[in-house]
Order: sequence, then structure tokens, then C-alpha cells
Amino acid sequence: MKCTVGRGRTLALVLVVAFAASCGSDGEPAGGRAELSQFDPRVNALLERMTLEEKVGQMTQAEIDKLASLEEIPELALGSLLNGGDADPKDGNSVEAWARMYDDAQRAALRSRLGIPLLYGVDAVHGHSNVVGAVIFPHNIGLGCTRNPALVEEIAHITAKEMRATGMHWTFAPVLAVARDERWGRTYESFSENPDVVAELATAAVRGFQRGGLAHPEAVLATAKHFLADGGTQFGTSTPPLMLIDQGDARIDEGELRAIHLLPYRRALQAGVGSMMASYSSWNGAKVHGHRYLLTELLKNELGFEGFVVSDYLAIDQLDPDYKEAVRRAITAGIDMGMVAHRYREFIQVLLELVREGAVPMERIEDAVRRILRVKFAMGLMDRDARLWSNPALQALVGSPEHRAVARRAVRESLVLLKNQNRLLPLRKDLGRLHLAGVHADNLGYQCGGWTITWRGGSGRITEGTTILEAVRAAVSPTTTVTYSFDGSGADGADVVVAVIGERPYAEYTGDRADLSVESRQVEMIRTLARSGVPLVVVLVTGRPLILGDVFELADALLVAWLPGTEGQGVADVLFGDAAPVGKLSFSWPRSMEQVPVNVGDPVYDPLFPFGFGLTYDRETGG
Ligand code: GLC
Repeated sequence: MKCTVGRGRTLALVLVVAFAASCGSDGEPAGGRAELSQFDPRVNALLERMTLEEKVGQMTQAEIDKLASLEEIPELALGSLLNGGDADPKDGNSVEAWARMYDDAQRAALRSRLGIPLLYGVDAVHGHSNVVGAVIFPHNIGLGCTRNPALVEEIAHITAKEMRATGMHWTFAPVLAVARDERWGRTYESFSENPDVVAELATAAVRGFQRGGLAHPEAVLATAKHFLADGGTQFGTSTPPLMLIDQGDARIDEGELRAIHLLPYRRALQAGVGSMMASYSSWNGAKVHGHRYLLTELLKNELGFEGFVVSDYLAIDQLDPDYKEAVRRAITAGIDMGMVAHRYREFIQVLLELVREGAVPMERIEDAVRRILRVKFAMGLMDRDARLWSNPALQALVGSPEHRAVARRAVRESLVLLKNQNRLLPLRKDLGRLHLAGVHADNLGYQCGGWTITWRGGSGRITEGTTILEAVRAAVSPTTTVTYSFDGSGADGADVVVAVIGERPYAEYTGDRADLSVESRQVEMIRTLARSGVPLVVVLVTGRPLILGDVFELADALLVAWLPGTEGQGVADVLFGDAAPVGKLSFSWPRSMEQVPVNVGDPVYDPLFPFGFGLTYDRETGG
């Protein structure tokens, strides 16, 4: 069912709520694919042998660089580890170092009394994106513009293989957020403002990550996140000054919650996603991490989810200033595993007390551990065969030309052409002089964006890849001179100028913005370039639609590259006509801040460019 529900309490919403009462509000059958419970005979046999301490240990996810020593893994019978966005191996950020780190931790886990292996998770959200040398794909907002589920599935499958090379077998991806207000710093992690697009592409990602089934040696466990309505929070409802909208409050009724934000989860469940991550955010004032209706009654009972729910990073702490009460609320609401980073000993301690005091029922503990162990059995980890370890045979594939070629294609298909006056594009490859302007033209970190090597991303050559400038230089004929300046100087006299502007990297709440206008210094550069009279192409490297102001008027051609990742050649391919642009906006593009948030289905819908907009050109004539 098409979701055109806006914030206005339109008649459509009334109909949706009525329809929701009958079955699923999107017409989907309630319940997910019940395949993990097939492992319950083996799970229950193991559960019977486990002490309470070992059960609570399974529910505990520590961050590896917070451990005092690897021996804490068997000592505490830890069930899981993660590397957060800034946690790299102690002996350097290489594929080999990641593999050693993983294998050492897993070997430690086998020294525990029952030798239950770890589930080891990482944010491989656009490639194995913590690892230097891995291919970095376009962020989801760009993939949303491809409308190509087969491509998204292939990207996830490649990411899974690059992960398994290092041993990592659990990614905290895909994001299923239906981002409704682009002032949110996580908009670029969302495929679209439209739930149907998110459902189709996120489900493709789940299929790609888990291709061949969870037991396949090249599959990884996917995580549908962040349940629920992380993209529906209202601006100004977060905890200032750090946050403006991230982790805020989704002030919407249940009809909109189900029609807009739940639909992708129904589809991901049907695709067999094995884990879910709860959202930091709230729904009508109640924190999701403590929300029993959402985490248990809706997700586990109504939708039939048989995998496990992991908390977000230290998110349990936000439920109550008293940590023990916070843990009680989270676990009884339906959190199965605590992503507790450095607080692992405290988490174990208070949860043991809560169970012994009867404040957390043993049935809840057993249900949580059963869900976690189902996944470990389903992935073959309990068989302790080659699948348990890093895979050296896959290490040669990490960052391989074949993988980069797929990323280059994804960049091409993600680009959206918003303007092409006088058929300026495609450019000839034999121009006399082509001038590139703007720091974003020659900055690999900027074109990758957040969640790349480090949590917030970085500037410059943070990994291996090709900048847009390098790609242009490689594309033009030997007779063409390519010049570059970060500030636009030196453009006079060139045949064409390509100005590359946009946002600098950010992650989560560090990207929350009250004003989405293009930086004034960049607008000034565009004005100066336009005055030179040289034909002007503007390329936007951005995690979301920006308020363009003069930039739209002054540019002869305007191409959105989103956050394309390491393969800048994909941008050059479209600039020079090796591939015509095919991208269609996955988000509405507002004229001004007064329109934000602007979404398909709003009662008054008049964006600068509507959802689905995108020009193309004839590769021969440019028309
Ligand atoms: C973060 C994010 C979540 C991520 C987790 C682990 O705070 O909200 O998306 O998977 O922590 O890095």
C-alpha cells in the first residue's frame, strides 16, 4: 500500500488506522518468518547446562578496546563484543590486524567453561567501513536514488565478504529509518523519506548480508535498526545543546507509526533478518529502550520476531539515573543484549541482583539467551568449524578491483542531475582546459562522509580510493589541461569549471542542523565563478538536500553526488557521458528552511524538486 501519510491528520490517516485494526496497517500478514526457533532443541539443551552467570554473560556486549584483558571474555562468559566507530585494532588498522584482533577474542571465548563463541559486531554500514583499504560504497541516501534493489543486495553481499575476511560476522546494518526531517544528522543513513523505497532497499540489503542463509561462510548477521521511528522524531525535542533532533521524540499516532515507520521492519522480518537494534529515541515521550509494547508486544508477539534485540550504545543508561533501575526497565521491556561498552561488569552485576531479587523474571532471561543462542546456532558458530574464524582466502578480495567496480557503478546510478542548462553535460573529454574548484573536489574523507574509518569520518586520504579530481584527470584526453584550486581562483579562461561543494563529514547528532543552507563561503565562490562567465558545473557532496539559494540559479549544470565513497570515478563517468545520470531523488528537496520538513503527501507540497525528480541526457547530444 502506498504510504502518503503526511503530518496533517488527513482523511487518509483515519482510513489507515481503521485498516490497521483489521490486520497489518500495510496489508502485510502479521508475523515474520519463523525459522530461528527450529534451533530450540539444541538451544534449550545448552540453556539447561548454563549457570545464571553464564546466561547473563551471554546478554552482555562489551567494546573490545574497553576490556582490561581478553581473559575477561571467558571469566565473564561474555556473549558478544563490538568495535564502535572509533575502536580499531591496537596494532594498526589493516585487514590482517582486524583478523588477528577478532581471532584472538574468539579464541579467548572458547576458553570459557562452556566455550560458547562470541557474536562480534561492527558498523559495516557502507562497506566494511572501519577498515582501511575496504571499499567504501555510497551512503544509503545515494543508494536510495538508484531505486536498484539488486545493486543494493550485491553491495551488501560484497560488504559481507570483506567483513568475513577479518572474521567479523555481524553488521549493525541496514538502517531502516524513514527520515522525515533532513535536519537530522542521520538523514544520509536513510534510504528515503518514503517507506516503500526503504522497505524495498533495506530488505535487499538484508538478503545481501545474509545471502545463502545465516550458516553460509560468506554471510553475516544483519541488524534492522533503529527500531522504531528513529527517523520520525520532531525537531527540538532532543537534549540540547548536543542534539537538536537526533534521539528525540516521535510525536505521531500509531497509525502513522505503523504506516510510515513499521512497514520496512515487516519486510525485513520476512527477509529473515536475525537481529534488531532498539532506537535511542522516544515515541510520544516514552523511551523506546524501555517500551514493552514496541519491543515485546509489537515486535516479538505481533510480528513474530524470533531473533534478538540489541540495545544501542550505552542507550540503557538513558532510561534512569539509577543504573540498576535502567537495566531493569530495558530488560523487562524486551532488550535481549546490552551494548554496554565499558560498563560490562556493572551491567552483569546489577542484572544478577535483579534476577535474584525477582525484579527480572528468570523466564525473561531465558527468553533473551534463547534468542541470542538461536542466532549462534543458525550461523554455525557453535559447530566451531572454519566459519568461526577470519577467512584468509577472502582477504585478497578486500578493496579488490572487482569490488571497486561495483562501487563505481553504484556511484554512477546514485547521482541525480537537477539542472543541465544548454546541454552543458556531458562534457567533452578533449577540452582545452578544465578547472576544478572547491575543497570537496580533492578530499577522499569528505566524499566518504561519516562512519568511515572513524565514527565521524575525516578529511583527506583517510583510506584508499579516488577523489573526484583524480577521476577527472584520469578521464580526460592527454591534450586537456586540468587545473584545480580549493577556493576557485584561477578559473578565468578555462573552457569549463566544475565546482565541488557540500558538507563536511559528521555522524549522528553531530550532524543535526537548524539551517541547511549551503555554506556562505561556498556560495561566494560560486558567485565569483559565475561572474567569470565560464560555463559552470556544480557537484554537491552532501548527506542530504541543502538550501541552494543562488547556487541553483548560477549553476549551468547541477549534479548531486551525495556521499559517494571511495570510487570518485563514478562522478567522472557521468560528467563525461560514459554513463548517463539515472538517479531519482529519494528525498524531497526543499526551497527554503520554511518548508522543512517537507515530505511526499504533505497537504501543501511545493518543494524545489519533488521526490522522484531526476534529469538525464543523451550521451551523444546532451539533450
Ligand atoms: C551508535 C549508533 C548505532 C551504532 C552503535 C554502535 O550510537 O546509534 O547506529 O550501530 O552506536 O556503533
